[in-house]
Amino acid sequence: MKAETREQQTQSSLVDRFNRRIDYLRISVTDRCDLRCVYCMSEDMQFVPRSQLLTLEELYRVGKAFVDMGVNKIRITGGEPLTRRGIMQLFQSLGTLDGLQDLTLTTNGTLLKQHARALKAAGVTRINISLDTLRAERFHSITRIGDICRTLAGIDAALDAGFQRVKINSVILKNRNHDEIPDLVAFAEHRGMDISFIEEMPLGEIGDHNRAELFYSSDQVLQDLQRHYDLIPTTETSGGPARYHRINGSDTRVGFISPHSHNFCEQCNRVRLTAEGRLLLCLGQEHSKDLRRVVRANPLNEEPLRKAIIDAMQIKPKGHDFDITAQPVLFRHMNVTGG
Ligand code: GTP
Ligand code: 5AD
Ligand code: SF4
Repeated sequence: MKAETREQQTQSSLVDRFNRRIDYLRISVTDRCDLRCVYCMSEDMQFVPRSQLLTLEELYRVGKAFVDMGVNKIRITGGEPLTRRGIMQLFQSLGTLDGLQDLTLTTNGTLLKQHARALKAAGVTRINISLDTLRAERFHSITRIGDICRTLAGIDAALDAGFQRVKINSVILKNRNHDEIPDLVAFAEHRGMDISFIEEMPLGEIGDHNRAELFYSSDQVLQDLQRHYDLIPTTETSGGPARYHRINGSDTRVGFISPHSHNFCEQCNRVRLTAEGRLLLCLGQEHSKDLRRVVRANPLNEEPLRKAIIDAMQIKPKGHDFDITAQPVLFRHMNVTGG
């Protein structure tokens, strides 16, 4: 397909009712994870039976359909995506897609030591790694079961493999890790990485803490950092929801993902595919389309899949209505979408 043709199709197809152009697909390849972060999961999780997951070939088919319609960025998420058996095959096949400019991964880093080089070879451009603390005992407490050494080794492996960008994601909770904000930035800066600070979102019952009590806003994070760093706001974007500042005299960007304090839904450019093949039109709402049914009913014809995706744009909601002071409205936990 010629580039111009693809561009024309993009303009006409993946635009929603609010004139937002969708060019970013997040694919969750599993809801399972080798950690149990307190803001993401409850202690006793029920996971989707493996028999209900899209196969790796089906995930590729959906990814390709989106790219053919103008999506230029795909992020692979989980759960923990690297726990899915054979996952490297998906990176390798997506990595060959013409028109896909950014093939990215969000991971907790525990398995990166084994996989970083192969991911780079497959065409992964950037990696985001979750790390909320630099202290081993805190890491264990926030992840409920994790060993920080494995994530730190994963970060080193990602840096050695030479990705365009490696970014740290830190969810900040008051009195759990907010005192480490400058240390986390120093850690990232020292290694030439970016870092994003994330406000906790109320998805699913987590049974660990009251989300409103531990809320720590991006404005507070910024204030804390301004005591240590000269931060210059920039309009740079990674195509995701973060608003970035640059540290004066450094390559490091500090991002703020602030669904509560600075709603970014107006600029939303993304949709999500769950591991079961449900296309979710918003992280904070249930509007969705079952693409597994469409893919399986039409093994040799991509037209119904394309049509289903185009139709789904009509039900993309205006935005989330997260309220951390209330009981979570969404039963779905964050591991279903990988954020
Ligand atoms: P970049 O490509 O580096 O910009 O990554 P990203 O921020 O798009 O993705 P990542 O997986 O690193 O997500 C970081 C945080 O942003 C997670 O907590 C996600 O839940 C959150 N996030 C991403 N997209 C959305 C969104 O559309 N709405 C909301 N509320 N949060 C989002
Ligand atoms: N609120 C905000 N961010 C979350 N993450 C997981 N659960 C939540 C939540 N409830 C983050 C992870 C990871 C990214 C995909 O989403 O830390 O970095
Ligand atoms: Fe696993 Fe990521 Fe959820 Fe932590 S936030 S439990 S690493 S999926």
